[in-house]
Amino acid sequence: MKGQLEQLKKEFVELVDKVASREALEELKTQFLGRKGKLSGLMKEMASLADGERKLVGAVANEVKEAIEAAFGEAEQKVSKASWSATAAKEWIDVTEPTFHARPHGTLHPVTQVQQELEELFTSMGFMVLDGPELESDYYNFTALNIPPSHPARDMQDTFYIEGKTGAAGKAGSEETGWVMRTHTSSFQVRAMREHGVPLRAIVPGRCFRNEATDARHEHTFHQLEGVVVGEGISFAHMKGVFQAVADHLYGKGTKIRLSPKFYPFVEPGVRGELECFLCKGKGCRVCKQSGWLEAMPGGMIHPNVLRQAGIDPEKYSGFAFGFGLTRLVMLKYGIDDIRHLESGDLRFLNQF
Ligand code: DAH
Repeated sequence: MKGQLEQLKKEFVELVDKVASREALEELKTQFLGRKGKLSGLMKEMASLADGERKLVGAVANEVKEAIEAAFGEAEQKVSKASWSATAAKEWIDVTEPTFHARPHGTLHPVTQVQQELEELFTSMGFMVLDGPELESDYYNFTALNIPPSHPARDMQDTFYIEGKTGAAGKAGSEETGWVMRTHTSSFQVRAMREHGVPLRAIVPGRCFRNEATDARHEHTFHQLEGVVVGEGISFAHMKGVFQAVADHLYGKGTKIRLSPKFYPFVEPGVRGELECFLCKGKGCRVCKQSGWLEAMPGGMIHPNVLRQAGIDPEKYSGFAFGFGLTRLVMLKYGIDDIRHLESGDLRFLNQF
């Protein structure tokens, strides 16, 4: 009897080792441990044994049962691991694979598009692209640019003065002044010259703010693109060359430009830079208000006082600056007739670009 039990254990261990599927394992379990299985068959026979022997054989039977159960448990784990890795080998996902669901794509804001186009042009001509603060000191926005305290641009109606930091606008020449939201990107001219020295070739695109009563042509927030070039022997002709390159780039090669005198405190001489109207080619139309020209490129030779504020010797160096109305260029390019669309965040407007 004892021998039969040992034999049963051996048989089970050998068989269970070869089992590869969960189903086969279950079957084996029924065969050996089930109510009508081999082990219970032997147990039944035990009833006919003498008392002393039954005790001994009973102990062996229990040992065999435990051993079979343990072997079964191990086999069960092995089979379930194998079935997982078989599934994993068949089914897999590539987390880097792009999906083909049609997701709505955003587009770049039209101002960003034109800005990037100009940044590309200017960097190709060796300009740096700089970024300046929108909250600016009264000094850099006005004083350093030769804009005297009495200048109308400082008027409370035009400039957003920052509460608590206001005042001292009148302390001409002093750098300890109040704070404003920059009214133009020209505010970065002296900062750029101080930070980078001479020679300098830089553009500064960015947002500007004015305390305007808004309408189709006036907005409190708009974009400009400033340019500063300083070096030895920089002349008016260099500025004209740059303006021509911009005109060619924006509206096609050979687009005419026209420079006429205009006053800005920080340049001397200052110019009203105009581009031939891209729509009517100078004949006169709705876009250029029948003049044939579009005023979009103000600039001039940097005033000696401004160079001095930056610590640059005007006897030795000269330079030019310009401040394109980026918002205006965008409106002209796309025929946008209301400036307020640009800052509206209205998707019906933005989705067109
Ligand atoms: N800052 C001027 C404005 O906002 C534009 C301008 C004019 C900038 C002449 C310049 C310049 O750099 O030379 O109206």
